Amino acid sequence: MNIYEIVIGADRDLVSRGHVSLVWRLSGVSLGSAAAIEARAVRLIHPPMVDVAMPHTQMPQGQIQGQMPSGQVPQNRKPGNLGTTAPVTTNYLADCRHFMQVGELGHGTFGVVVKAIDLRERPPREVAIKLLSRGNFIKQYKTYVKREIDNQSRLRHPLIVSIQEVFLTKSHLAIVMEYARGGDLFNYTMRHGPHGRLIEQQARWIFQQLIIGLDYCHRRGVANRDLKLENLLLDHDGKDGIRPLLKICDFGYSKHDRSSSAKSGVGTPVYMAPEVILGDNHYNAKKADIWSCGVILYSMLFGKYPFNAKEPRLARRIVAAQYTLPANVAVSPDCLDMLTKVLVAEPAQRMGMEDIKCHPWFLEGLPPGALDMNEFLLKGMEPQASCQRKVELVVDQAQRMGNPQEGLWACRLLEPIGQSRPANGQPRKA
Ligand SMILES: Nc1ncnc2c1ncn2[C@@H]1O[C@H](COP(=O)(O)OP(=O)(O)O)[C@@H](O)[C@H]1O
Ligand SMILES: [Mg+2]
Repeated sequence: MNIYEIVIGADRDLVSRGHVSLVWRLSGVSLGSAAAIEARAVRLIHPPMVDVAMPHTQMPQGQIQGQMPSGQVPQNRKPGNLGTTAPVTTNYLADCRHFMQVGELGHGTFGVVVKAIDLRERPPREVAIKLLSRGNFIKQYKTYVKREIDNQSRLRHPLIVSIQEVFLTKSHLAIVMEYARGGDLFNYTMRHGPHGRLIEQQARWIFQQLIIGLDYCHRRGVANRDLKLENLLLDHDGKDGIRPLLKICDFGYSKHDRSSSAKSGVGTPVYMAPEVILGDNHYNAKKADIWSCGVILYSMLFGKYPFNAKEPRLARRIVAAQYTLPANVAVSPDCLDMLTKVLVAEPAQRMGMEDIKCHPWFLEGLPPGALDMNEFLLKGMEPQASCQRKVELVVDQAQRMGNPQEGLWACRLLEPIGQSRPANGQPRKA
């Protein structure tokens, strides 16, 4: 096994602020022993992972679902996207005529996401707006911000949160998105099944959607690189017994085929593939996404992560794909077959997208036509280059703080699926 030194470079401040998704640099410098890499990896992972550690890794059976073991909501999940909004504290959209902020949806690694009403639409439409501080923040993370907007706006799919528009306020770069009202999969998993996990059929329904949405992304040339329960949203909370639709969000670490091959170890440690942990130069980002899908499937089925961040030797266990299958949860042999073929350390031996789409467990109960949907959607046009240029100008301008003389900086991207305007350009009637 190669030994690498793990260093945290420009992203040190993310770590010191205790954020979830840290960016690692794995420099490839030999430290001389596997124990050394282990010790350093664990030390680097540990502080931020206090926030991330999936609460039900320690949740005793029968604990009230949705409650953290300590009774505390980890800091990074406040207010948490439970499909509800927290009261507005700061009005980020005070200087904005078209949008009215009505609540906060979540705090992520990079910014705050608010719920707002688009007052231009009739009837006014709910949207989610991600707000990133202008100035130095954008300067430092410009590449990621551009990629997020550029890559996500290429994806027009019912299982992917669509980006509709970007604009500048005096203090923030605002990314207007389709609003997913059902909260995130982390909360859904905790609240919708026994003991903070999902029953196999529920997990399969989510997994099928994840694979179909991700297959579309990959075929459009985009790897997400930060797939996790918190970045998978739902269109409704499922309380009425209707199965929710999945909405993949957060393309902040995404990578397109046409950019250089994936080298940086980005993502969230417990979801990271072994090759990402090892700092493989030019790893296959799509295969690494598939590994994260395996971690997500395991977490939904068993209500805990396959690799517990709080246990020692985390990096070594991920690299060796060393995880256990809890004996107290009954899972079908087909399901286990799929899971164990996805959570394989060697990317070449790991199941690929095409194998997953043929697997009997994946195919069971799949709505007719689901697999054909991507063929159809892939025939659609990609956004025009002129739009990408406009987005670049807006992001470049966001590197400076706004001033009263600054004009309107905005770029309208495509309308969300099903809400396109008629040819006369008038908003759709309800
Ligand atoms: N379109 C959306 N609809 C509803 N909630 C959202 C939406 N986008 C993000 N959120 C909430 O905000 C959180 C942070 O957003 P995300 O895009 O993941 O930001 P970050 O890159 O900072 O992690 C998400 O985990 C989710 O709870
Ligand atoms: Mg996120």
